[in-house]
Amino acid sequence: MSEPILQVRDLRVEYATPAGPAQAVGGVSFDLAKGEFLAIVGESGCGKSTLLFAVAQLLTYPGRLAGGEVLFDGVDFTTLKPEELRLHRWRDISVVMQSAMNALNPTLTIGAQLTDACKAHTEWSDEKIAQRSAEVLAMVAIDAVHLKSYPFQLSGGMRQRAMIAMALLLEPKLVIMDEPTSALDVVAQRSLMHQVETLRHQLGFAVIFVTHDMSVVSHYSDRLAVMYAGEIVELGPTREVFDRPEHPYSQGLMEAFPSLLGESKQLTGIAGNPPSLVDPPEGCLFAPRCAYANDECRSVRPELIAYGNHQVRCHLVARTRKNDA
Ligand SMILES: Nc1ncnc2c1ncn2[C@@H]1O[C@H](COP(=O)(O)OP(=O)(O)O)[C@@H](O)[C@H]1O
Ligand SMILES: [Mg+2]
Repeated sequence: MSEPILQVRDLRVEYATPAGPAQAVGGVSFDLAKGEFLAIVGESGCGKSTLLFAVAQLLTYPGRLAGGEVLFDGVDFTTLKPEELRLHRWRDISVVMQSAMNALNPTLTIGAQLTDACKAHTEWSDEKIAQRSAEVLAMVAIDAVHLKSYPFQLSGGMRQRAMIAMALLLEPKLVIMDEPTSALDVVAQRSLMHQVETLRHQLGFAVIFVTHDMSVVSHYSDRLAVMYAGEIVELGPTREVFDRPEHPYSQGLMEAFPSLLGESKQLTGIAGNPPSLVDPPEGCLFAPRCAYANDECRSVRPELIAYGNHQVRCHLVARTRKNDA
């Protein structure tokens, strides 16, 4: 793997709840190479958005960082003051969140919002700002006449693309996207993903992408992380995780998406519910739903273990691999 742009180390996030702290992200670690596209999948509530918020240092109460490091180009973001973080936002890391449809300021034109972001982070002249604003809109196939439009004057798909244009405005090294296409129809989704991918090749930024759409994952991501109950249970090259998922949860997840080229489908393949995050079971968090679970699984929490460039959090996989060796 080339020089990592991002190193996440044992990241933990808790939400304060009436029943006590809920561990929504429980010790997540991964590296992201420059220019790499990492997809994250897992059923609703498994902590994908919370993880992205924690990486971008955007957690707010009742969420809080309970431990770990987020090294961006070697700088630990978890130790920075808000004003120091502000220097990195947009320039180094930009974020398109799940609610991006509503993230634009309704009272400002698209052009004014792009200008504000440029003024906050650069010394660019008005002329340069106008030129760059038109350029990023063109990248996402929005005509420059819409610099004068207010968000409500754009369609949902255009607003989403305008958000992505804003995210790319200052050529960040990492773009974090949380289901950015989920509000779009299939045709608009495909065209947006195609644009993101063309831009990634042109500009060389890395992407962390959360999605329910397995066809997006299979077409665009270099590596795939599968999350369950706040943990990464499997991480590897996308093709490998698709073709040979090793964790029983990943296997169930892949079976729930029989056709990679078909429409996205809700996860239906695995009976049962995820565990309580306030009072999680002692052993493997997936054990209560796992057809293969044994006593060890029910009593000892498995570590994420690396086999080559593939990582799996499962006692049974660990045992099989040891016997194979
Ligand atoms: N503001 C909040 N307060 C309490 N719990 C929360 C809050 N936001 C999320 N959670 C809980 O954290 C867990 C992870 O949520 P989330 O990160 O949104 O999952 P995902 O994006 O994978 O659907 C879920 O159990 C959810 O209920
Ligand atoms: Mg989410």
